[in-house]
Amino acid sequence: MSTRKLTLRSFHSYALMMFGALLLSTSVAQAQDQAKLPNVVILATGGTIAGTGADSTTTVGYTSATVGVEKLIAAVPELKKVANVKGEQVFQIASESMTNDHWLKLAKRVNALLAQPDVDGIVITHGTDTIEETAYFLDLTVKSRKPVVVVGAMRPSTAISADGPINLYNAVLLAGSKDAIGKGVLVSLNDQINSAREVSKTNTSTTDTFKSTELGMLGYIQGNKAYFYRQSTRKNTVDTEFDISKLDVLPQVDIIYGYANMTRAALDAQVASGAKGIIQAGVGDGSIAAQMKTPLVEARKKGVIIVRASRVGQGIVARNGEANDDELDFVVADTLNAQKARILLMLALTKTKDTKEIQRMFYTY
Ligand code: DGL
Repeated sequence: MSTRKLTLRSFHSYALMMFGALLLSTSVAQAQDQAKLPNVVILATGGTIAGTGADSTTTVGYTSATVGVEKLIAAVPELKKVANVKGEQVFQIASESMTNDHWLKLAKRVNALLAQPDVDGIVITHGTDTIEETAYFLDLTVKSRKPVVVVGAMRPSTAISADGPINLYNAVLLAGSKDAIGKGVLVSLNDQINSAREVSKTNTSTTDTFKSTELGMLGYIQGNKAYFYRQSTRKNTVDTEFDISKLDVLPQVDIIYGYANMTRAALDAQVASGAKGIIQAGVGDGSIAAQMKTPLVEARKKGVIIVRASRVGQGIVARNGEANDDELDFVVADTLNAQKARILLMLALTKTKDTKEIQRMFYTY
């Protein structure tokens, strides 16, 4: 073989070798970069973020909870840039159908995963109707300081300008953010970060529906970064006294809604069905209508814990304000809305029936 051909062949093999080495070093570098990213597990539960509509302009009247977690993840390839993501479908429901059993299953799975050293944070995809309740239940039962971010969407995945993909991307970024450690369970939609305790759904259908109104959101997610400006002063996650690890059922606590001309029928039915606690979402400062005082006192005498909350949505329900709570042996909900007061009372009743202890819990969490 001529020298020229030999030189050409050795050049080719040299070039191939160098290309191989480059490829190898690039893939090693990429693997090293990927290894530096946080490990985030996405637990999917259903909701609009997993919903589909008849066509791209359907933003109400669509089918919730139809798209599986792997498809949700595949729809946002950018997730790989901010975290190593794994998905689990814990259940697939429209969140108006959430139950205590779902909460116990979800909280136990979250705690099991966060106990793993190779899990840095968790995202829970969820219907928006009861996101605030699930988030608060987890805020009181997750035993880790690692980030837990609950996320949803107001438009189904098939809609023009669906908000699910960007909400999911931001939630994963937040769950992998060191700044989110120790902030309690977070709810993140619409580029905003809210605490589980304060946030509520405030509009039936717009994308900016989640607000913490007077007590305020915690921060923003902007340009691939989470910005925190405040945090809740109330105890949460590792600082709570509640342990659901051995619980398979939660005490029945129901809510009665206050309105002019209300009757005792709903209260009597809930007590008769076995309620261990009643939250009254009362008018104003948790006021009790004259016709409701006797039935509430009767319920209390049967051992049912009565908590005065308000239907108003903001502000403190003051102890001994609109009712003599000391004399009636009632509890007040502080600033918790009725649906969150129900969650705290359920967990409180797994520990005690002492109303002074329960009142302490309402001033602590
Ligand atoms: N069915 C409602 C739910 O699953 C849809 C609302 C939503 O997820 O945005 O909560």
